[in-house]
Amino acid sequence: MSADTKKTLDQIAALRKAAEKAAASVDGPEALERWRVEFLGRKSALTGLSKKLGSLAEEDRPAVGRAINELRAELEGRLATLQKKAAPEAGEGTDVDYSLPGVRPPTGSLHPLTKTYYEIADFFTTLGFAIAHGPEVEDDFHNFTALNFPPDHPSRDTQDTLYVNDELLLRTHTSPVQIRVMLAQKPPLRVIVPGRCFRADAVDASHYPVFHQVEGLLVDETVSLGDLKGTLAAFAEYVFGPGTNMRFRPHFFPFTEPSAEVDVSCAVCGGDGCGTCGGNGWLEIAGAGMVHPNVFRNVGYDPERWAGYAFGMGVERIAMLKYGIDDIRLFYENDFAFLKQF
Ligand code: DAH
Repeated sequence: MSADTKKTLDQIAALRKAAEKAAASVDGPEALERWRVEFLGRKSALTGLSKKLGSLAEEDRPAVGRAINELRAELEGRLATLQKKAAPEAGEGTDVDYSLPGVRPPTGSLHPLTKTYYEIADFFTTLGFAIAHGPEVEDDFHNFTALNFPPDHPSRDTQDTLYVNDELLLRTHTSPVQIRVMLAQKPPLRVIVPGRCFRADAVDASHYPVFHQVEGLLVDETVSLGDLKGTLAAFAEYVFGPGTNMRFRPHFFPFTEPSAEVDVSCAVCGGDGCGTCGGNGWLEIAGAGMVHPNVFRNVGYDPERWAGYAFGMGVERIAMLKYGIDDIRLFYENDFAFLKQF
């Protein structure tokens, strides 16, 4: 064996060691590519040795050639293993099965009353209504007197008021915020008022001492009952679906004249009559009417110049009809099996 051949075999052995050492610190796709270029590329030491093969003594060439080929095969095998490690999305060569479906983190959902309120608010804010708020603890002036409830009048009895003390009460409806808005702003205006209301009602499937309303108030120079009816008819279709009918039933509220209760055709039976609508095909969702001149006088608006409509709708009522919920108590029990469905 010539000295040249011996030197070449030593170089091959050194190269194997160097490649092994370098492979141990390959830590990603870029490092791997650098490793490949250095040890297996066209300009690598290994390729250089192959080119030198022709200059060696003839009888030494087969042994050196074999040694070079062995190292090349070894390095290519090493490359394949490193590629699998560096590209684990193939899922091979690791303990992780990337084809398994993921684990969904549990997500919360909105309470059905919140969802219903958002839908109501979407409709009216799109029409340019602003959102106003008022206090839950009210006084007699805002809750009753300014809304044209005469003192000691029987209409106050319909409200089952919960009193805090001689002066203060828990608001029985969101209508007192009409008074607060009109005292604070000049017309024209249009607002909706969402909020909690309180009445001394015994609890049953359709009554709860706490419930929610959305009040509406629009004041301008030319406002008609037709505007009110058209707006609520569009609202009914928005919330309960196209084809929903709506009707006004004459009623009395001290703060509106004329006044009406608003019914929608039953979403369950389509108006034919069923258990949900008590067989008559209609369901009440709101009270409404044209703002009474006395209410305007009480807030300093000139009833000769300004006209307005108002409405108050029950959020629980609308949610129950929309989702087919037959017991109001479900909204407040926080039963997970119930809430999960929304
Ligand atoms: N405040 C009434 C109630 O709770 C509902 C109502 C009726 C509100 C007519 C209105 C309205 O604004 O115009 O029974």
